[in-house]
Amino acid sequence: MKAVRIKEYGGPEVMSYEDIDNPELDERDALVKIAASGINYIDTYQRSGLYPIPLPATLGLEAAGTVEKVGTAASRFKVGDRVAYTSVPGAYADYAAVPEDKLVSLPDGVSFEQGAAAMLQGCTAHYLCRSTYPVKAGDRCLIHAAAGGVGLLLIQMVKNAGGFVIGTVSTAEKAELARAAGADEVILYTEQDFEAEVKRITAGAGVNVAYDSVGKSTFEKSIDCLAPLGYMVLFGNASGPVTEFNPATLGSKGSLFLTRPTLFAYTADRKSLEWRTGDVFKWIGDGSLKLRIEHFFPLADVQDAHRALEGRKTTGKVILTH
Ligand SMILES: NC(=O)c1ccc[n+]([C@@H]2O[C@H](COP(=O)([O-])OP(=O)(O)OC[C@H]3O[C@@H](n4cnc5c(N)ncnc54)[C@H](OP(=O)(O)O)[C@@H]3O)[C@@H](O)[C@H]2O)c1
Repeated sequence: MKAVRIKEYGGPEVMSYEDIDNPELDERDALVKIAASGINYIDTYQRSGLYPIPLPATLGLEAAGTVEKVGTAASRFKVGDRVAYTSVPGAYADYAAVPEDKLVSLPDGVSFEQGAAAMLQGCTAHYLCRSTYPVKAGDRCLIHAAAGGVGLLLIQMVKNAGGFVIGTVSTAEKAELARAAGADEVILYTEQDFEAEVKRITAGAGVNVAYDSVGKSTFEKSIDCLAPLGYMVLFGNASGPVTEFNPATLGSKGSLFLTRPTLFAYTADRKSLEWRTGDVFKWIGDGSLKLRIEHFFPLADVQDAHRALEGRKTTGKVILTH
């Protein structure tokens, strides 16, 4: 089969498109013939070594496809079932051996591309606004990188929960997308001081929660945007990791909360996975959550896909086709 492999950490050029053997099945695995693989920002961290993984490795943490074979002790799925999954390494490939407990059924009417677009970013947006900081009607919420994959989904989920959304983006085109997804206010954080804008928009009150996936370049100001008892949810490092912080700051700035959540912890058990994916697919089905699948790249062109994502050229979801 074809797969995208890395043997060392580095830029997009370290990814090579290769022929490798099909994966071996453990007894509780299903062999999935992948139709669409999702690209996520975490793939760039694993490729660069920011999040170290054992090498050599096949990249990719999300895909949708068809069950082609099941292990001797696997019983949840049968050959021919349409499925999707996330958080299992090796999705930049034509086939993956996936533990059956990590797979979910793709509902009728949801395409492979939609399945691959919904799992990682959809479940992330779900846990951020349903579990990490459960948004209530009237909450003021700051969402950075609002036109990105997670951003556009999080805007919609927060709006559906009754929140007031202030989004940040780098360009006017991205601002339009964030507004179309429901953002009440959008700040061009590459041109405007977003802290001053948030204070202006909230008449000095600040936000109840800041969802910050940008990291290094936004972290300190995001904290300064919070109302007393506000939640700083740092969930990514698109501009680089935050490496230094004095917890005493949380006290002096209003008894704030700081968390650094990951999807893996919020979908670790089957019940959480089924709750989150069930909601995401239900909302896609009833039209209350719209996926924006904007960019398709053949698996062989994965280097271009990573360059586009890291160069802030993408909006919504990036998919690898097979
Ligand atoms: N912790 C978790 O569970 C979890 C799960 C999923 C994703 N994440 C994180 O959430 C973030 C979004 O992931 P995604 O896959 O949906 O990606 P994405 O938002 O589609 O792309 C990243 C966006 O970050 C913004 N950005 C700001 N500064 C940047 C910089 N210096 N370089 C590159 N981009 C920059 C860009 O938007 P603008 O051009 O508008 O600034 C860019 O489009 C990532 O940080 C990812 O690691 C975390």
